[in-house]
Amino acid sequence: MTDLTPGLNERISLTCAAGQHDFGTGATSQTLGINSNYLGPVLRAKQGQTLPFDVHNQLDTVTTLHWHGLHIPGEVDGGPHQEIEPGATWSPDVPLVQHASMNWFHSHMHGLTAEQTHKGLAGVLLIEDDASLSADLPGTYSVDDFTLVLQDKVFDGNGRMAYGVSAQVFEDGFEGETLVVNGTLAPVAQQVPSGLVRLRLLNACNARFLTLSMATGPISVIASEGGFLPSLVETETLFMSPGERYEILVDMRALATNTLQVGFENEGFFATLFGSGLTTLDALTLTRNSGKGFDGAMPNRLATLTLPDPTQAVRTRDFRLQMDTGADLAALALAWGNVCGGGAMAINGQPMKMDRIDEAVAKGETEIWRISVDDMLHPFHIHGCSFRILSQNGGPPPAYAQGWKDMVHVEDGWSEVLVRFDFDAPENAPYMYHCHILEHEDCGMMGQFTVG
Ligand code: C2O
Ligand code: CU
Ligand code: CU
Repeated sequence: MTDLTPGLNERISLTCAAGQHDFGTGATSQTLGINSNYLGPVLRAKQGQTLPFDVHNQLDTVTTLHWHGLHIPGEVDGGPHQEIEPGATWSPDVPLVQHASMNWFHSHMHGLTAEQTHKGLAGVLLIEDDASLSADLPGTYSVDDFTLVLQDKVFDGNGRMAYGVSAQVFEDGFEGETLVVNGTLAPVAQQVPSGLVRLRLLNACNARFLTLSMATGPISVIASEGGFLPSLVETETLFMSPGERYEILVDMRALATNTLQVGFENEGFFATLFGSGLTTLDALTLTRNSGKGFDGAMPNRLATLTLPDPTQAVRTRDFRLQMDTGADLAALALAWGNVCGGGAMAINGQPMKMDRIDEAVAKGETEIWRISVDDMLHPFHIHGCSFRILSQNGGPPPAYAQGWKDMVHVEDGWSEVLVRFDFDAPENAPYMYHCHILEHEDCGMMGQFTVG
């Protein structure tokens, strides 16, 4: 972890480059990384800081780096328009205005987002604020406060990471059967002192939804993407889409050991072997050592959050996510630069087009965005904001998804979010909305909007 708080005036150098990494299979995989052979740093900064980044591209392909979750102007958002050519440096000043939250950054190079992110162009950006730093919560980094990047991988017979696309992979998104935690084959083990332990979780899979549980007891959720929940939510299972973040507490006072488990939905070959259902994998085993850690109690109140008020909305926009949109659209999608293996995906009948703005939003106005699909479950993401979910798949979202979010699940019926944007995104630097199954995004299930 790189703690930014002391170096207020120093520029922060992030170098994207090819690397070689052993995930624990005994073989070296060809990977990508940011200041590292695989993945990037966990950066921690404080609300009110402006982060002066120098993002160097030492790859042999063009890339971009998007700050997922940040409320920042379109010009520094790192979307597909802010291309960094090989050998070039992009130097955005990124202001942190929002409250404590877990954010991340990843490649957003249109057509290459899935491959570059899967191979390792992703990192974590934690924002703290006065309230989070003084909150009665464990916060000693890598003692009782851990960040976990969860990913699924395919390893070939030689133990090397394999990534490839086909028509079927575009359809389902790329999924692996092997769980990797912070770049290491699961399960990983960690000794912790007696007390509460905080886990900050990112689902950085390209396409896989994860069903999280604890070996003993429920999961205690304290925060979602955009910040703390009003109070602790206990749940048997936590269902996380690609791109989602949640923070949880594990009580290591009464238990000598407990394990965070990740359920993978059985698909394809595994479904024929084991039937549909979940294969549960151990992700992280915590074992208590003789140390004394954070000795506070499970918190009751975490943040002040009013119920979202849909009557504040001045308009409603509809978004229909579409797959298999036919041969004519496939030709058009290809001509517009989408990478899709011969098919097409779209939103409201339009595959992504870099020089077409799909929506123009007025800054500071509250809106309802209604998203629907005609097939499978898709995770929908909006840049430049945190929103509140009014309904998910036609019903109320689970309690842990009722706080600040930038991801919503869309499957049956409508999912509706209440959203407002506080920064400008001009035509040359628009924000994106898209499915966060990264192969769907590259394939054209993405649109662009301005804010002004
Ligand atoms: Cu995490 Cu537009 O992406
Ligand atoms: Cu984003
Ligand atoms: Cu999708």
